[in-house]
Amino acid sequence: MNKKQLYEVAEQLMTPGKGILAADESIETATKRLKAFDIESNEDSRRAYRDLFLSTEGIENYLNGVILFDETIKQDNSAGIPFAQLLTQKGILPGIKVDGGKEIDPNSPKETLTVGLVGLAERLSEYKHMGAKFTKWRAVIKIEGDTLPSKSNIRMEAKRLAQFALVSQQIGLVPIVEPEVLHDGNHTLERAAEVEQLTLQAVFEELESVGVDLKALILKPSMVLPGKDAVSSTPEEVAKSTAEVLLATVPKKLAGVVFLSGGQEPEEATKNLGAIVKAEKFPWPISFSFARALQTPALTVWRGKEENIEKARDVFTQRLKQNQLAIQLD
Ligand code: G3H
Repeated sequence: MNKKQLYEVAEQLMTPGKGILAADESIETATKRLKAFDIESNEDSRRAYRDLFLSTEGIENYLNGVILFDETIKQDNSAGIPFAQLLTQKGILPGIKVDGGKEIDPNSPKETLTVGLVGLAERLSEYKHMGAKFTKWRAVIKIEGDTLPSKSNIRMEAKRLAQFALVSQQIGLVPIVEPEVLHDGNHTLERAAEVEQLTLQAVFEELESVGVDLKALILKPSMVLPGKDAVSSTPEEVAKSTAEVLLATVPKKLAGVVFLSGGQEPEEATKNLGAIVKAEKFPWPISFSFARALQTPALTVWRGKEENIEKARDVFTQRLKQNQLAIQLD
């Protein structure tokens, strides 16, 4: 493993003033996103969906990286350029989601575990040849009352995230670990903070125990939010809780932190991001790696129609700009 190259990629992914777009929805999730706007999901419509965002002019002014999905990294844009190559030409690092979705947790059937460790090294080598520079693995943590998440579920997800990160670094790809604490439910801000803290503690214990180099690792956490069916909190409250949890759990040497949006309204995600960034002096760079909060407004305009592409791309650029403004410190 060439550590110097890993550090350079991690640093480039955290270049101040820009973020990372998650354009890595699985076929199932992409189908759900398209169906919401009555767009049929097939290989070509999903290619057009990716092209809407990735061929938008000037995205390199806002993005350091884009996370792709297996199908997308093998596809071309409308001008026949492979998406990974298109991004590279723009100076944006192409990355790849490499987990294989979820299975029921045999020890706790109301919870899930992320799969994909079998054959991981071989798959990562192939993606590296296709131009990927970094990887992502998502684990899902569900809050339900005081009983979920179970301790064993958090521990197993943390172990799998650590194993993924280790293999990724061994292959020469910078890992993004994404332990997503879901926003679903009616839990309080305090309960979300407690679960986020337990999760991040376990994740960093496991990462350190297998010897992952934190200087070549990016964390993609949830913001600490009350459940979406509970009374919402102000951006200042969200920022305070999020900052407290991160500062208590995330080692100083980490390469960076990029937040997921987690199904918040796009404007809400941007406001919370802005408040978090300004809440404290953090030892690591902080930015965004949103999927829905960057893409949904543009999809609403596009609706799969050629004549709406330009307007939809303007809307996408506006979302990128707003999030860029949010992460600026003064
Ligand atoms: O896997 C989920 C993405 O990485 C983040 O998506 O911003 O819509 O939560 P989101």
